[in-house]
Amino acid sequence: MKTLGIETSCDETAVAIYDSNDGIIGESIHSQMKMHAEYGGVVPELASRDHCLKIVDVLEDALGNHSIDSIDQIAYTSGPGLLGALLIGESFAQGLSTALNIPLIPINHLEGHLMSPMMEFPEIKMPFICLLVSGGHSMIVDVIEKGNYKIIGQSQDDAVGEAFDKVAKLLDLPYPGGPHIEKLALEGDPNSYDFPRPMIHSDNLDMSLSGLKTSVLYTVQKIKNLDHNKKVDIAASFQQAVTDLLVAKITRAIEETNRKEVIIAGGVAANKFIRSEFKKLEGLLGIKVYYPDLKYCGDNASMIAFVGSMMHAEKKGNNSSQVRARWPLDELKK
Ligand code: KG4
Ligand code: ZN
Repeated sequence: MKTLGIETSCDETAVAIYDSNDGIIGESIHSQMKMHAEYGGVVPELASRDHCLKIVDVLEDALGNHSIDSIDQIAYTSGPGLLGALLIGESFAQGLSTALNIPLIPINHLEGHLMSPMMEFPEIKMPFICLLVSGGHSMIVDVIEKGNYKIIGQSQDDAVGEAFDKVAKLLDLPYPGGPHIEKLALEGDPNSYDFPRPMIHSDNLDMSLSGLKTSVLYTVQKIKNLDHNKKVDIAASFQQAVTDLLVAKITRAIEETNRKEVIIAGGVAANKFIRSEFKKLEGLLGIKVYYPDLKYCGDNASMIAFVGSMMHAEKKGNNSSQVRARWPLDELKK
């Protein structure tokens, strides 16, 4: 069975095909990153317009030699995300579903991130712990079974990716800042600035990033000449503080739940320093740590097609909108 996945929740227009026998057999993605970089963040209306412009080309590219008639069902991201952007993906998916007379399945974007490592590593078995860290989300989820997700910890304020982006802005780095901070940090000393690790010792799995970002802001404001040497040290110290916080919270999550597998998903999971620090937990805690392939860390349609392939829609798509800008994981139906 072939499931076509469509992702347009933010600034990536993506289409992929998941075959239940052969896995991903086609995928294409158009990133709007360069367009938004000029504005220092995603501009929702521009995002919607660009999805409209690119989605047909992206579909054709993902299909390659496969005929559109070979698709058995369509899965699309219906939330959470930018409302206008989501509506473009939904309308497109509804049109295809009606024209091809095949089922339509709305998918939660976060569930896509949570499940995507299972697409690459079939040996992963639920239950497991997932640390989902992206530009909009920072949460620790106990993935009990398909559709049953318990958020056991989350950021009280900024998302981890958002903190990377804001600190990058303070250092005059382009948007999105995560990869630029990571690159600068390679040259810096992570012990040069003692930034706070807010809530690291709190009696729960929640965390806070906003205080850390503000501390970087005050540090930068005090520096008269923010040259390259200072920037690399700030980047390395900030990245170290974030990593310490995440490692401490995941360690605690493992101790509390006794789960044996940890998956790190979302855009920030691309960070190689964070990856290497988490890998050390394997020996320390007797667990296995998995990361998605770099191309599946950020937003993509393969994860949406994959989750869709696990679901079976009974009926064809109808014309009512399932789009939800806000759609918490614990409100998913099993
Ligand atoms: O999952 P994603 O592509 O989009 C959503 O937010 O849903 O995540 C994007 C976020 C951005 O904040 C970006 O700065 C961050 O992930 N990011 C990174 C790295 N690559 C992307 N943060 C730290 N290190 C990276 N290498
Ligand atoms: Zn995402």
